[in-house]
Amino acid sequence: MATFKEVPANAGPAQKLLGWIDNRFPATKLYNEHLAEYYAPKNFNFWYFFGSLALLVLVLQIVTGIFLVMHYKPDAALAFGSVEYIMRDVPWGWLIRYMHSTGASAFFIVVYLHMFRGLLYGSYRKPRELIWIFGCAIFLCLMAEAFMGYLLPWGQMSYWGAQVIVNLFAAIPVVGPDLALLIRGDYVVGDATLNRFFSFHVIAVPLVLLGLVASHVIALHEVGSNNPDGIEIKNKLGPNGRPLDGIPFHPYYTVHDILGVSVFLFLFSAVIFFAPEFGGYFLEYNNFIPADPLKTPLHIAPVWYFTPFYSMLRAITSEMMYALIACVAAAGAWVVLKARVGGLFKLAAAVAAVVLATLMLSIDAKFWGVVVMGGAVIILFFLPWLDHSLVRSMRYRPQWHKVLYAIFVIDFAILGYLGVQPPSAVGERVSQIGTLFYFGFFLLMPWWSRLGDFKPVPDRVTFSAH
Ligand code: HEM
Repeated sequence: MATFKEVPANAGPAQKLLGWIDNRFPATKLYNEHLAEYYAPKNFNFWYFFGSLALLVLVLQIVTGIFLVMHYKPDAALAFGSVEYIMRDVPWGWLIRYMHSTGASAFFIVVYLHMFRGLLYGSYRKPRELIWIFGCAIFLCLMAEAFMGYLLPWGQMSYWGAQVIVNLFAAIPVVGPDLALLIRGDYVVGDATLNRFFSFHVIAVPLVLLGLVASHVIALHEVGSNNPDGIEIKNKLGPNGRPLDGIPFHPYYTVHDILGVSVFLFLFSAVIFFAPEFGGYFLEYNNFIPADPLKTPLHIAPVWYFTPFYSMLRAITSEMMYALIACVAAAGAWVVLKARVGGLFKLAAAVAAVVLATLMLSIDAKFWGVVVMGGAVIILFFLPWLDHSLVRSMRYRPQWHKVLYAIFVIDFAILGYLGVQPPSAVGERVSQIGTLFYFGFFLLMPWWSRLGDFKPVPDRVTFSAH
């Protein structure tokens, strides 16, 4: 419990008010701990803009969302019309709606770049595992939030996209059909689905998201930020006990982040005012047609931010199952023949491989597609324990690691591109190779991340004043 501090009698009115508050709520303490005396490494670069930008977009989404809810009607008979009403008749309604729909895509752009920064500088490694895990949970929530939000305008893509994705759950053995029914609240996507998605989109998921973001930042402030050199600044303290390579977050990084925010708002406004649908990538053209359960669109594709994962789902055909079974067999054989583990563990691995291969042969490929799609996100949670590299930052890793990361990004982009395209034989084969590479990158990381010639890591961060 904090001790009561007397405010000096000659203090000004503002100081007196602050003293009164501080004796009842830790305002100054929080300000110092998280801003004025939070020492962040002085060598942050471009990649460090995206955390604060993600916070900005979160606030934008919540504020614009509040105004949209004032006019939106969560009713299958009225939803499409209410969105058109917002666009045409509500004063500034078009701006609020476009800010929200563009904000969804902006959120994913910012978060993908934010995650990639983590990958580049090993920001997920000890002691920052929990920051990363909270981040992955945020990413999952964000996906759920965007998916449920997309149903609300009740256009053709809202309807058929939800139909396709909810039906995937039905592929899960035993519980699948009942689970799909529970999610829909009906035998087909309908009014009940719209109502529950609305309630989750507007309150349930945002609450979880806010809790996770708060935990993410609290965990970050507990251990301190990483930096482009991957050096722990707390290990080099000055005579005053402060990190030699640290600078107070406020004012240095608040000002730094204003630059990021300005550039972001400039680009964001350009999209909102000149290309709000962004060629059908941010708002699909088919979604300007009211949902029609009797008319399936020719080509149903999710919004761009889901397409890398959607491609992985489509890549899992019955033919691809043989390739996956071969991978399971190879992994089992490697553990039995090469791994330096006990005999019991080898036996368990061999049994597990045989059981898994049998299940893979006997359950429909559609189910394994769902497993692969979900696994592509879940695997990210394990990154802190997959990366065994001798250094944190990409700067001090062997050159070919950089090449591998570049291929990973290209692979992810190709998967994203193929997910927007209608199915084709060539596309299918490429997405199968892309899926194998994606999983190979992570699952083989404990092995490849230690290989090569690492550069010596300096004692202090590299920084030149500009
Ligand atoms: C709503 C979404 C998110 C918000 C608002 C958010 C916010 C932030 C903020 C403000 C920071 C500190 C500033 C910075 O380092 O850029 C940060 C750091 C970090 N975030 Fe996030 N984040 C989000 C999503 C994610 C996701 C999805 C991941 C990864 C899966 C992630 C992983 C990290 C990591 C590892 C750090 C520490 C980086 C370092 O110290 O180098 N974040 N986040």
